[in-house]
Amino acid sequence: MCGIVGYIGNKKAEPILLEGLTKLEYRGYDSAGLTILENENFKTLKNKGRVKELAQITNPENLAGTIGIAHTRWATHGKPASVNSHPHNDNSNHFSVVHNGIIENYHELRKFLGEHGYRFLSETDTEVIPNLIHYYFSEGNDVSKFGFLKAVKKATEDLTGSFAIGVLSVDFPDVMIVVRKDSPLVIGKGDGENFISSDIPAYLGFTRDFYLLKDYEFAILSKNTIEFYDNKLKPIQKEVTKINWDATSAEKNGYEDFMLKEIYEQPTAIRETIGNHLCSDGSLQFDELNFSKEFLSQIQKIYIVACGTAMHAGLSAKTMLENICEINTEVDVASEFRYRNPLINKNTLCIFITQSGETADTIAALKLAKAKGAITLAISNVEGSSITREADFVTYTHAGPEIAVASTKAYTSQITLLAILVMHFAEILGKNSEILADMKKSILELPAKAEQLLSDFSEIKDFAHEVYSSKDVFFLGRGLDYNSAVEGSLKLKEISYIHSEAFYSGELKHGPIALIEKDTLVVSTLTVEDLLEKSISNIQEVITRGAKTLVVTDKELAHSNFTKMIKIPETNKFLTPILSIIPLQIFAYYISKEKGLDVDKPRNLAKSVTVE
Ligand code: F6R
Repeated sequence: MCGIVGYIGNKKAEPILLEGLTKLEYRGYDSAGLTILENENFKTLKNKGRVKELAQITNPENLAGTIGIAHTRWATHGKPASVNSHPHNDNSNHFSVVHNGIIENYHELRKFLGEHGYRFLSETDTEVIPNLIHYYFSEGNDVSKFGFLKAVKKATEDLTGSFAIGVLSVDFPDVMIVVRKDSPLVIGKGDGENFISSDIPAYLGFTRDFYLLKDYEFAILSKNTIEFYDNKLKPIQKEVTKINWDATSAEKNGYEDFMLKEIYEQPTAIRETIGNHLCSDGSLQFDELNFSKEFLSQIQKIYIVACGTAMHAGLSAKTMLENICEINTEVDVASEFRYRNPLINKNTLCIFITQSGETADTIAALKLAKAKGAITLAISNVEGSSITREADFVTYTHAGPEIAVASTKAYTSQITLLAILVMHFAEILGKNSEILADMKKSILELPAKAEQLLSDFSEIKDFAHEVYSSKDVFFLGRGLDYNSAVEGSLKLKEISYIHSEAFYSGELKHGPIALIEKDTLVVSTLTVEDLLEKSISNIQEVITRGAKTLVVTDKELAHSNFTKMIKIPETNKFLTPILSIIPLQIFAYYISKEKGLDVDKPRNLAKSVTVE
């Protein structure tokens, strides 16, 4: 995910910007750049590659300017290349912008600006921003710094999507303007100097006083002042937040563990993954795939192949592909698929899901499928990873780096991307258009619903405290609820070392119910409307045998005798696994904490399984 930093003060900006960018490297990026404002001119230098390589270009320039903005870019629109790197300047080099987020309506904004004589050098969505600011500034007649602010505000009013931006103007060499919506941005307050960055750790070595901007709040920074404005440009006061983190918790952005941080990053990861594949006007695009109706119509069978959590994401995609696209789909674990001589021909599409892109079994399965003549599509979170170099087609989740061994945000991003991909296929094939409209709307609402879900987890934490000494935990579900059961069970066993298993609820009577005794903990997800009665009956069967029950549901269940019930927001039925897993991730996390275990590095497990 892209990262932003900025500095305004008395010191040379260049080394401070490079230091900030280095601290943001963990977010993942493919290019970097900066703008220094000196002698009322921009020095904008950018480069594909690492921050170290950017420094090799900037250092010899002897940049003396004391105000600047800088950026690490993770390519979304346009390939990784110096021309697509940020900052982006307007045609007349009056405004320079760094941006994190995605401008969904950039095509129409490019058209609008093009009609007014603006030209574009890059393939990015961002380049519309400095040009829009220039357009509105030239159109207005306020040439004060407030006129600059008004132009930034007007430009942001035209933007659909997400953004955190830092803007410099050669006409106002003593100020920097920032604003955000749905992308992170903080302001660090120093003594005679101020900072901006995508997260607090970038400048924790310089200040402990931070202002946290809300959506559509603007700020004008000078070296000695920070003025805040609301979305109507009415001046507002903001409280400074004192940060007392040590170096290690700074890396985790204040969270106790990477896993908790990554759980809380899910709304952003989902939002970034939706990106430009699904715009708020409902249009779908996968430029990287370019599949035609003729191409998709020839596909008779889809295999989804992956390992562990990634395979669980595939289970939800199977339901969607079969119900919405009406294509026969099988999900398999890569270590089985590669040795079972699967029935493949040129009309088979094989989708390989792998967060790291380095999982040995998944790569081997892809090579086998390719050798047998299948069409191969890889879904990865890591640009340029091994699998992406082998597959015929590649598309990416944008979850940002996942450090904790137990996968969380990669999983929910995978289902999000798969859902959009399924809709794209269905639209091309002309299938089930009535389902698509609701799904599109619901996907766009998902980040906010995930945020709502994450706003208070005290109940689940308390419940984890009650049950952490359980010896066995069983997870039940039917239909899509089974997918959350099996993933919830995996999360619990890998970080708490408690024996846990997931069963289809309907299979209980065929054996597993023999394991239920007094106080056995049974966890269920109850979201599939058509199967609700049956699933509730199954839970009653275990309650009768003395089980304690934790139920995650989006339904209003008036009278229940469950030990604990966690309510999640409602969404389109195909998307519920994205929300219903979140309480189960948190549950596993707190059980592990109660047991005093290393949540991020569970025993015997590695983040990337590069051997068979
Ligand atoms: C579990 C987990 C693993 C991975 C699996 C595949 O929390 O993270 O099950 O999902 O090892 O890894 P990738 O997606 O990198 O291929």
